[in-house]
Order: sequence, then C-alpha cells, then structure tokens
Amino acid sequence: MQNFGELRLDRISRHFHTHAALRELDLTIKAGEFISLLGPSGCGKSTALNCIAGLLSLTSGEIRLDGKRIDPLPPEQRGFGMVFQNYALFPHMSVRRNIAFGLEMRGIRRAEVNQRVEKALKLVRLDNLGDRLPGQLSGGQQQRVAIARAAVIEPPLVLMDEPLSNLDAKLRIEMRHEIRRLHNELGLTTIYVTHDQDEALSLSDRIVVMRDGVKRQEGTPEELYQRPATLDVALFMGFRNVLDVNARQDGVGRITAESGAVRLGALGQAPSGPAIAAFRPDDVLLAGEEGQPAHVGTVEYCGRDWLADLTLPDGRTVLMRSPHPLTKGDPIRFTVPPERVRVFAGEEALA
Ligand SMILES: Nc1ncnc2c1ncn2[C@@H]1O[C@H](COP(=O)(O)OP(=O)(O)OP(=O)(O)O)[C@@H](O)[C@H]1O
Ligand SMILES: [Mg+2]
Repeated sequence: MQNFGELRLDRISRHFHTHAALRELDLTIKAGEFISLLGPSGCGKSTALNCIAGLLSLTSGEIRLDGKRIDPLPPEQRGFGMVFQNYALFPHMSVRRNIAFGLEMRGIRRAEVNQRVEKALKLVRLDNLGDRLPGQLSGGQQQRVAIARAAVIEPPLVLMDEPLSNLDAKLRIEMRHEIRRLHNELGLTTIYVTHDQDEALSLSDRIVVMRDGVKRQEGTPEELYQRPATLDVALFMGFRNVLDVNARQDGVGRITAESGAVRLGALGQAPSGPAIAAFRPDDVLLAGEEGQPAHVGTVEYCGRDWLADLTLPDGRTVLMRSPHPLTKGDPIRFTVPPERVRVFAGEEALA
C-alpha cells in the first residue's frame, strides 16, 4: 500500500463550455477515511470524482496529495482504483485475468500476481468463480470482480461512482456491507459517489452534500441526519414535511413556529419572522389534547408501519409514519418533538 496522509482539493472547478459542472469545491480527505459525495442527479458528483481520478482536467483549482500537486498528472500516474456503475469488466477475459490485468500492466512478477489475485478473490468471496467470464456472473458478482480489480493494485485511493445502482434492493444492501468490510479490512481510503442518502449514511465517515456544482454541507452522517444546515439538504435527508411559518425566537435557544392553526416548538437559533419549518414523517407522533388537530387522509401500509397524510384545519398536509394503523377520516392530534424540528429562515431556506 502506498501510504499517504491527505488528499486536498483546493477550490477545484470544472466547466463544460460555459456551463460550470463543478464550482470551487474544497475538500480534504485523510488516509483511511470513507467519504461520500451525495446529491441529486446533475449536481457534479461524477465530475468531481473524474477530476480526482484525472479523467477530466480542471478548469481551475489544485489537487494535492501530501502537499504535492497531482492535478497535472495523467490518471495512470495517480494510480487510483476506480469502480464504475457499469462494472467495465473485460468481457473476453476470465474473472481471474480481469483482476490480474492491473498488476500485469505494472510489470509485477507472475508468482506475485497469482498470489495477489487469489487473495483478492477470497476477499470478495469469489474464490470458486475465478475461471468464469463476466457474462456468466450475476450483477452483484460482477461488481465484486470490479471491486477486487480496483483493490488488488492496493491503490492509495479508491474512487467509486454509484457502484450499486444497477443492483436490486436486497443485493444493494448486502454489497453495501461488503464495500465497508473491504474498506476496513484493506485499510483503504475511499471516495464514494451516490444519490442514495441511506447508502451514504450507512457507509460513510463523512458525507459531502452537493447541489448545482457546489458543496452545500459537509459532516458526519449523524450531523447531516440530525442537523441539516439548509432546507435543500434537509429535503435530501428526508425532511419531507415543509411548512411556511412565522418564527419567534425566545433568546435562549427555543423557537416557536406558528402558522394558522399550527404551532410547533423547535430548538436552535433562527431570526424571528417568516421561516420554514421542516420535519420527518417519522417524527410526527400521536398526542393528547395538547396536540395539533388534523384529520387522517390516505393511509399506505408499509409492512412495519403506516404512512399517512394528515390534513390540517387550513387544508395543508403533513406526512406521518405511524407504528399503529390509522383510519381515513378519523380526527387525531399530533405533535413533533422540538429537537426534531428544523427552522430555516432567509438564506438557509433557499431551496
Ligand atoms: N461531457 C460533458 N459535457 C457537457 N456537460 C457535461 C458533461 N458531463 C457532465 N456535464 C454536465 O455537468 C453537470 C454535472 O454532471 P455530473 O455527471 O457530474 O453529475 P452527477 O452528480 O454525477 O449526476 P448523476 O447522479 O446523474 O450521475 C450536469 O449538468 C451535466 O449535464
Ligand atoms: Mg454521476
């Protein structure tokens, strides 16, 4: 393993003609970290990853590995491992030869190549399928070959671009565990691109949320899940309920968010005035007399629980996830714990 301390992106930008796919992204990745770039389609995730890999040149900015500039280097001199959405395996070569390819290109002795390939096959649990062609494997198995091929060269950095998006839901969750296990066992440093918040939350040490070519927020999964800094990050993190409110700050970290018949408490700081309150369906709880009145609308059975539309007296809708069955048309009262309500005002509310 070629060790390194940190990879640093310094205000990197990438334009396509006049269109800026990536704008002044700053990011530091420390050895051993698992970082996800998370954001909606077209926000610049793949562009950022391809700039790091050297597959795309920068329009401006610098990339440094332990202080040494690498952005002028071609991809092969950076030597990072890549895993793509479509696996990109050589169809006419056996699994074993696919994995060996990168080592052979580096002129490594045959005996050592064989030994490393066998070890990589075991790691991804494909030791009995080494002689098959990629076309004779399932999607999940092919993706494991792609991961073995990237990891076998023991790269300083592994870059993965939506590697699980072609797999079905069950396999995606299994492979997610596999990817994190390999990251830990091999002591890799990984940058992982996804638009799936669950994937990013479960895999990452740190998440970078992007939108329109810029970084919107960076933090641990817990920080992003609990305290999204802006409304667009909150929406991306599952705060599906969004209400226009009037916020009142009491000066000691408590906010009252009111509009019409609705009154919610929240924690934190927000200037008093027009604002947006956001919360998750999971955090809407049934309450007694002190709760907010509403009527149950459509109810969807989700297996473990129910997802219901609640209609407020002013006609607006709140989504609630309930562990108990609810009946359409019933009057209910609900509450949302103040620590689960985010209030965004002004700039932060820009969606
Ligand atoms: N070769 C290209 N020429 C022109 N525009 C491009 C090119 N590649 C990407 N773009 C544009 O740059 C922006 C960012 O694209 P990018 O592929 O980085 O998005 P992404 O976040 O990876 O999206 P997705 O989740 O759909 O893969 C998009 O608006 C895209 O249309
Ligand atoms: Mg992409």
